[in-house]
Amino acid sequence: MTRKRVAILISGRGSNMAALIEAAKANDYPAQIALVMSNRPEAAGLAHAREAGIATVTVDHTAFGKDRETFERALDALLAAHRIDLVCLAGFMRLLTPWFITRWSGRMLNIHPSLLPQFKGLHTHRRALAAGVKRHGATVHFVVPEMDSGPIVAQESIAVLAGDTEQTLAARVLEVEHRIYPRALRLAAEGRATLSSAENEQGVQ
Ligand code: GRF
Repeated sequence: MTRKRVAILISGRGSNMAALIEAAKANDYPAQIALVMSNRPEAAGLAHAREAGIATVTVDHTAFGKDRETFERALDALLAAHRIDLVCLAGFMRLLTPWFITRWSGRMLNIHPSLLPQFKGLHTHRRALAAGVKRHGATVHFVVPEMDSGPIVAQESIAVLAGDTEQTLAARVLEVEHRIYPRALRLAAEGRATLSSAENEQGVQ
């Protein structure tokens, strides 16, 4: 089995990154985490990745000012240098331009803490509570130019409980995230989820 070479892009804590690193330790996992890249030098996840023996690199977006494309060309050059097949966004807090997204089309996943298409964007737990939904959850999807909108690869829901706060709900959704991201990456790495197949299916429960 040739494992797909994966880069994980982070901006902070990196708990989804850690879940992917853990999953990729299994002998039969079809992907290896070859690179962790951050746009913030202080991202806590970088230390964890280094401890796990994974190559890390920071491309500080502030050095590029408003020039998103030059920032992304730097990311892209590093991905090429590390012979990356698949990119996983995991709490990466920069909007990517259509140029980069098109370049990685069908080869880039993102995790979002809601049952997409509900609650795109930020503060999903707060908004779910305010809307009074009965169920909430997380989604892994292929990245397309429109934010939080690509075809779904994996999605799992949990019940919203009476008395839930933004924090308690976020914690339970995070457990879901750590379960479904490794599952979704497996499907993508095995070629069982592709941009076009995911468009036609409901996602994996
Ligand atoms: C997660 O909730 C993820 O869904 C969202 O940002 C958060 C990142 O958390 N996109 P972590 O850095 O993976 O711990």
